[in-house]
Amino acid sequence: MAKQWRGVLREYADRLDVTEATPVITLGEGGTPLLPAPALSARTGANVWVKFEGMNPTGSFKDRGMTMAVSKAVEHGAKAIICASTGNTSASAAAYAAHAGITAAVLVPEGKIAMGKLSQAVAHNGQLIQVQGNFDDCLEIARELAEHYPVHLVNSVNNDRIEGQKTAAFEIVEVLEDAPDFHFIPIGNAGNYTAYTRGFTEELERGITTKLPRMFGFQAAGSAPIVHGEVVKNPDTIASAIRIGNPASWELALEARTRTNGYFGAIEDTKILEAQRILSSEVGIFVEPASAISVAGLLERSAAGEIPAGSTVTLTVTGHGLKDPQWGLRLEDGSQAQPTIVSAETSAVADVLGLKAQA
Ligand code: F0G
Repeated sequence: MAKQWRGVLREYADRLDVTEATPVITLGEGGTPLLPAPALSARTGANVWVKFEGMNPTGSFKDRGMTMAVSKAVEHGAKAIICASTGNTSASAAAYAAHAGITAAVLVPEGKIAMGKLSQAVAHNGQLIQVQGNFDDCLEIARELAEHYPVHLVNSVNNDRIEGQKTAAFEIVEVLEDAPDFHFIPIGNAGNYTAYTRGFTEELERGITTKLPRMFGFQAAGSAPIVHGEVVKNPDTIASAIRIGNPASWELALEARTRTNGYFGAIEDTKILEAQRILSSEVGIFVEPASAISVAGLLERSAAGEIPAGSTVTLTVTGHGLKDPQWGLRLEDGSQAQPTIVSAETSAVADVLGLKAQA
């Protein structure tokens, strides 16, 4: 039988807290492609690669952390997990809980999560609760529930999540055979920024790499507490996945930025959507808006002259475009794409395509 990727817990068992006693709850996450992006290299003069995390089983990077968090929860006897989410964590938690045969309760901000993610949480039989508040309210409630009731918290304040997510950095190093010069990544709670920094740090300490990448993290302009150094009470952005005003891993992210000589930036929604379109139309990778902020961040920093020509740059794009497909149908002028309708005749289609019959 051909070799099949076994999921991050088995592939990296020697680098994670996994023992004989750990039941491995996996859906085959990880092993995602690191794709060269010639169009972005041409635009920036750098050597640009995209880590396409939308290729995970539930369509986002959350699966790397969730396999770890749910496996450890089951190891410790948990029968129910809980999380607050802007959508992807809830989809992932519900899927892994279903696989493990336990219950997932998911708290999401009412009306503020993308349809694909809502659909996943319900399809995987999650106990979906829409809270009349924002993500930060949801997380506070989830933490309190986990403290006082028999439910196991699987947000990234749970270190098992960060541990699982650090494996993406290992995979990048395996492909490039060293760390990149720069790594670009979206920031919501800053859990993933923290996880990549940990993964790259461990590779350096093992002597596998020669450097730490400079970790460049981006928040949406209407939701940029870390960039501005203060909690945002009513965060607002079309990138609903990162609409977070009080990030859980704030302190860890500050420490990681200092250690990697990193950077935090804020990006306007219009630039996020522009970058999403560039990635889908020029590279062939469709991501949700929050993920496109990595691309927007690169274009912005490159235009600012901060990315030397020839640098090796990796971008994490965190979630699949199919999660929130409405943005793909939105044209650059803000209008909706209208399908061209023709009669069922070859010549009619050829006319629309501007094709002339060959002699
Ligand atoms: N990109 C996507 C697609 C996300 O869903 C998230 C976070 C992030 C980036 C930011 O990652 O929080 O580790 O800094 N989504 C969480 C959720 C909050 O509930 O799905 P972070």
